[in-house]
Amino acid sequence: MNRSILLSATIVLTAAALHGQTPIYQDESRPLEERVEDALSRMTLDEKVAMLHAEGKFASAGVPRLGIPDLWMSDGPHGVRAEINWNDWGYSKRTNDSIAAFPALTALAATWNRDLSELYGQALAEEALYREKDVMLGPGVNIYRTPLNGRNFEYMGEDPCLAGEMVVPYIRGMQRNGVAACVKHYALNNQEVWRGHIDVQLSDRALREIYLPAFEKAVKEGGAWSIMGSYNKVRGQHACHNDLLLNKILKDEWGFDGVVITDWGGAHDTREAALCGLDLEMGTYTNGLTSESAFTTDQYYLANPYKELLLKGDLPMEGLDDKVRRLLRLNFRTAARRLKPYGSIASPEHYAIAEAIGDEAVVLLKNDAPGKKKKGATPLLPIDAAKYDRILVVGENATRNLMEGGGSSDLKPKDIVTPLDGLRALYGDKIEYTPGYKSGKPMYGKVEKIRAAVTDSLRRRAVEMAREADLVIFVGGLNKNHGQDCENGDREEYALPFGQPRLIDDLAEVNPNLVVVLLSGNAVEMPWASKVPAIVQGWYLGSMAGKSIASVISGKVNPSGKLPFSIPVKLEDNGAHHFGTISYPGDSIRQEYLEDILVGYRWHDTKKIPALYPFGHGLSYTTFDYGKPTLSSPTLSPDGSLTLSIPVSNVGKQAGKETVQLYVSELSPRLTRPAKELKAFEKISLAPGQTKVVHFTVTPDMLRYYDPDTSAWRADPGKYRLLIGSSSTDLRSGIDFKY
Ligand code: BGC
Repeated sequence: MNRSILLSATIVLTAAALHGQTPIYQDESRPLEERVEDALSRMTLDEKVAMLHAEGKFASAGVPRLGIPDLWMSDGPHGVRAEINWNDWGYSKRTNDSIAAFPALTALAATWNRDLSELYGQALAEEALYREKDVMLGPGVNIYRTPLNGRNFEYMGEDPCLAGEMVVPYIRGMQRNGVAACVKHYALNNQEVWRGHIDVQLSDRALREIYLPAFEKAVKEGGAWSIMGSYNKVRGQHACHNDLLLNKILKDEWGFDGVVITDWGGAHDTREAALCGLDLEMGTYTNGLTSESAFTTDQYYLANPYKELLLKGDLPMEGLDDKVRRLLRLNFRTAARRLKPYGSIASPEHYAIAEAIGDEAVVLLKNDAPGKKKKGATPLLPIDAAKYDRILVVGENATRNLMEGGGSSDLKPKDIVTPLDGLRALYGDKIEYTPGYKSGKPMYGKVEKIRAAVTDSLRRRAVEMAREADLVIFVGGLNKNHGQDCENGDREEYALPFGQPRLIDDLAEVNPNLVVVLLSGNAVEMPWASKVPAIVQGWYLGSMAGKSIASVISGKVNPSGKLPFSIPVKLEDNGAHHFGTISYPGDSIRQEYLEDILVGYRWHDTKKIPALYPFGHGLSYTTFDYGKPTLSSPTLSPDGSLTLSIPVSNVGKQAGKETVQLYVSELSPRLTRPAKELKAFEKISLAPGQTKVVHFTVTPDMLRYYDPDTSAWRADPGKYRLLIGSSSTDLRSGIDFKY
């Protein structure tokens, strides 16, 4: 648009305003698309290009002349991150940006509770609104492929059905409030090693059956308004401008009408960015919290370099308009929306939600009677306080702020209840504490000698105290430092770090009443598992972590969490690690997903390599009995459905919740298929003595696999088995039908 046209357009706009007419794009009663077209028609080339890239670390431009506001983003995904400076990664050191921290997404997935996921999205959106954020960078649904991935804690486990079911309500709860979810990292960012360039090679089946379904659900059912491209390459092209992933699958096939945002620093080329599906470029040259430079945002790939190619006619204007339409749509849905709630921050309601999620996330992995087990002997948990005078808590994680660190998900919580606080609140003076170990990397020479001596003396002290105690609660696991559960690096070992395995062995030796609580977002090796009567997976549970952990240990809450991933006995038992370095982590340039569709329990079950604790596992303080399943018909037709019904009873003495899991198995498949796959689940609440009948609708969709020959989904006629269980290996019954 030249200057005189711009001037007359401005005068028309101003005149309309003087006569009290609302321009179409500002009229929220009009259809969104009409408003988008109207705004687009008023914009200059410069205004359009300005929208496509960052103007600050976490902001991108609106259209100031038209009153369209800037777009403000924030990490995500477990709370609203503290304010970051306009043009560098430093925190702004404000006093009004403390928040409520929610449980990490692995923990959310472990609840298997869709309602809690919706509350999570809703509460987080309220915090975002209060902090004036339009887009929350999360949730993440990258599939858990290896326990070494430093970012697994930000994702929802190893199964596409579970991750897909859990992500949809999170997005809906959030977006209902006018805050956009930005689902990440699309796609195949399943490790942090070489994340910026590793070229992921995988089959169409693995892509479609394992790694994409949760994203597809997020888009089609959750209606996500934005999505974040990942850093890695996929089949030779960076994921942030990837023709297959973004144009063909996301936008054409799934009909995504929102904005594709780069991961920070994920764009690498103007032409590809323009043509291969990217809409908004963020963080260029500031990738991975590293370098800053005098580089200005108008030098971004989608800034002046793009404009120049557009003006030369080297790139089509329609491409630009498509991106701007998407950005306007996002803007009108969020930043420019007038009628939205005020929001609230660190409120009692939000803490209550965080705690409720934590309560249902904790997974009771093991619960035996201490010492030499007699059949029917009382398990160690829940602890009967009357029995113990001296309760020793050991472990750094009992007191550590585990919301700090981890990379972009780092949080500044207003309140924290640590496990030690939570246990003290229940048991007061009975509690003694000693750290037992100290985190930190191995050093060299003299310094390492000193470090080793400190580790040794902390261990000895803990063991001495444990000998005198009536009960020992060890709270260890990983933390959010680099090399642990943290962005931009993977874990170096599957074992527990900082000398914890030896410490646990020694504690078990001197005191049979030992509870091990693991705070981590990942599976860890547990060679000591058989020596310990009770093991609790306590995740990273946010502000109220200590309350939920104490509630489960004391029996105030009956545990109902189930593992969202398998815990292999040893690393090589995991499919990704079975094939050596080309499969994980790759040769630094490329990697091949050689386990293919057999990820997680699909590998363990199909290859008959039992996990130490399988996917879907989690004990309760009560006992659930599964009755006989019935099917509405012995055959399923391609356009029909079946109902499977199964009674489940609480035959124990206290109320509890059970997640009833439905797996499907094709009995004589044409191609390799996993032994079984999760296709549905229902979490129910049962009073002692109560029975409920759970109904599952079985549809042909649940039988499908992706046929690489025709590049389409299909279900073959034949015999199928429905397996119903309390975990992926604790199957209580099966029933066959014909398709
Ligand atoms: C992370 C993203 C995050 C972004 C902004 C990147 O390093 O991979 O998940 O949203 O930074 O902080």
